[in-house]
Amino acid sequence: MELIRFKINGDEKGSLISLESNKNIPFDIKRVYYIFGTINGTRRGYHAHKNLRQVLICVSGSCKILLDNGKKTEILLNSSDQGLLVESLIWREMFDFSADCVLMVLADNYYDEEDYIRDYQEFLDYITKIKN
Ligand code: TYD
Repeated sequence: MELIRFKINGDEKGSLISLESNKNIPFDIKRVYYIFGTINGTRRGYHAHKNLRQVLICVSGSCKILLDNGKKTEILLNSSDQGLLVESLIWREMFDFSADCVLMVLADNYYDEEDYIRDYQEFLDYITKIKN
């Protein structure tokens, strides 16, 4: 997990942030998706990826991210100039979405349901097996 700080091109017109593969985003971007209009109180995610790198950017509003690689960390994303790099084999849950939250995610591969681990015990077993 790493927080990336993006440069804001600000002037009297407002602000602009540019995201570029292998420059301020540390991989080839193959997919972008965004989560918005999240119903109050929703908690989502509940999965890890076997092989996927992602950068999460809260471009509007705020939300919290729980990351778990065996050890749990909670991160508040509330600024559009911050990107949260999430590597493979990290369990994630997203919650406390503000009504105006738009969570944009950049990924280094296409959507592939086969890459998901959606069961927490299976995730723990998988990382234990890989470490040994
Ligand atoms: P889901 O993985 O359940 O979202 P979350 O983990 O945030 O709770 O995804 C919601 C739906 O969107 C599910 O039917 C799969 C689909 N989906 C795609 O078609 N493409 C994508 O890139 C993603 C991330 C999800």
